[in-house]
Amino acid sequence: MRRPRRNRKSESVRNLVRENKVTADDLIMPLFITEGSKINKQVKSLPVAYTQSLDVILKEISSCLKLGLHSFILFPKVSKRYKNNTADYSYDPDNFYLKAATKIKKKFPQITLISDIALDPYNSDGHDGLVKDGKILNDESILVLEKMAIAQAKAGFDILGPSDMMDSRVGKIRDALDTHGYTDTSIMSYTAKYASGFYGPFRDALDSAPVSDHSIPKDKKTYQMDPANSKEAMVEAQLDILEGADFLMVKPAVHYLDIISLLSENIDLPVVAYHVSGECAMLLAAAQKKWLDYEVVMPETLLSIKRAGANQIITYFAKDFLKLKN
Ligand code: PBG
Repeated sequence: MRRPRRNRKSESVRNLVRENKVTADDLIMPLFITEGSKINKQVKSLPVAYTQSLDVILKEISSCLKLGLHSFILFPKVSKRYKNNTADYSYDPDNFYLKAATKIKKKFPQITLISDIALDPYNSDGHDGLVKDGKILNDESILVLEKMAIAQAKAGFDILGPSDMMDSRVGKIRDALDTHGYTDTSIMSYTAKYASGFYGPFRDALDSAPVSDHSIPKDKKTYQMDPANSKEAMVEAQLDILEGADFLMVKPAVHYLDIISLLSENIDLPVVAYHVSGECAMLLAAAQKKWLDYEVVMPETLLSIKRAGANQIITYFAKDFLKLKN
């Protein structure tokens, strides 16, 4: 008689036949940086995450390295006084985010530091692109994104992460980088980024939601993808490959496992899953109420993303996961 239970009969046999594992090398830890010093403010709607000043971030990276975690994606919380509707501060040489990246890489040359390219933290309208007459401008926004990319490459980021979803930005950014001699700077494209409700806690943390004004689109649906579509993810993926992306990202992760497996089965580039703020917040809220056991469901969630075919996972749980394992 066939008895599949034989392969589950002991911890040792289960370890022997296990098909998927999540390791420190798979994980990318998001960091939220703000200006100032000694700032370490917990994000209310995402209690595993903190907005931190550079001095605290440097300590945070040290403690992550001890756990084997060596890849980080850095997002800026930008003060209102630097925001305007052309997002000029995004490429200003005095930008604290760019200066911090240089200091981080100087102290930890061995890590992989990933940036975010989009206008939303710097744009007084709160959109990833420039807004005019109630519309998001594609090609005009890319001119700003290119400047951001060059400034970030110059600051020392290893990988740039365009999260803006403007058409053709990957190719334009690649050309701009190559023209300026940054041929070794990689691009991790937010390929299939959906117009999701699960980004709420991230926008709380960075104060980066679209502003409410009748002349400004209230959501990002004209550039981020429709959650109803999967074929479109293949179109975006094919374009990003042609345009020179080095990594393709699917975002969110858990609610889009089908898209992760679609891309990982059809595409010969690393597929990164962004396990976004709202997806992490749900588990934390249920665990706080003791409705779910965090130490069981958190690793199970990361494993499900890996099993679907993700090569790397960006998750706010990276540190907790490795602490649990060690
Ligand atoms: C900015 C950006 C967002 C996230 C990553 N980069 C927010 C958005 O597009 O509105 C969300 C990440 C998360 O929720 O954890 N373009």
